[in-house]
Amino acid sequence: MLGKERKMVLTEKAYAKINLYLDVVGKRPDGFHNLETLMHTVSLSDELTFELLKREPFSIELKIEGNDNLKADESNLVFRAVKEFVKHSHVDGKLIITLKKNIPVEAGLGGGSADAAATLRALNRLSKFPLDETKLYEMAEKLGSDVPFCLKGGFALCRGRGEKITPLSPLKNLHLVIINSGERVSTPDAFKLIDQSKNSELQASPNEKYNVLSSITEGEMNALFNAFEQYILPTCPRAKKAKEELILCGAYSALMSGSGPTVFGIFDDFVKAENAAKKLQSDFDKVFVSGFID
Ligand code: C5P
Repeated sequence: MLGKERKMVLTEKAYAKINLYLDVVGKRPDGFHNLETLMHTVSLSDELTFELLKREPFSIELKIEGNDNLKADESNLVFRAVKEFVKHSHVDGKLIITLKKNIPVEAGLGGGSADAAATLRALNRLSKFPLDETKLYEMAEKLGSDVPFCLKGGFALCRGRGEKITPLSPLKNLHLVIINSGERVSTPDAFKLIDQSKNSELQASPNEKYNVLSSITEGEMNALFNAFEQYILPTCPRAKKAKEELILCGAYSALMSGSGPTVFGIFDDFVKAENAAKKLQSDFDKVFVSGFID
């Protein structure tokens, strides 16, 4: 048996995010898009366990539980996060990572980004904090547009690709039902749909936008908006239905998250949220009762 000093084990949660407001405000020369989005961390999470076997040469082994479609290879953001981390610091030993996947993938919930951010946090802890926040943030930016937000989470207005983060006071006393319809949406394709559209009149004026953003920030949920919805929901009938059903079940607002197709409903009462989830579980496979967390 390995002595304590030869094996270190650490568990890190990777929390999903939802977008309460998402506007695509322009295309950039680098091919990405500038966004204005309000993101909030929610309690739905993956769990990553890191075992570091010291006195063995550095290597990475990734095991995935809970999703047979995900490849445990170098394309996985967890793997890429380790590679990024060891460019700037070193991990001393053999790293065995077990990723328990609960967050639906390609779903608009930032699951892969959350896993990458959790990996950066965990490796920094395992290595006794060699890298400061600024360095972790730079690494997160390279891994993906939502990874910087996922490093700290909470509630924030994110601009640029998503990496320019203004923290806000987390929302409280609201309950969520999150439904993933199982339909697949590719994020690059969703952005292409927006590029092809000539619907520029749908852009809000700066004043209207400011009012909408500040009312959501203060917990007023009537003004939720997602620029992808009008393009994605018509191609995802089950997600569209889920959104309608959430309203019928008493959500006072419902919206698609990110580039979809996951939708969420906001409830002011936990029992109402639980009852809605119970009812909708017979129609949809992936229904989660969740809440906002900081
Ligand atoms: O940054 P991330 O790898 O998550 O982005 C996935 C894809 O989504 C990019 O390759 C790009 O096509 C698109 N994207 C974008 N503008 C953003 C974020 C993502 O065009 N702000």
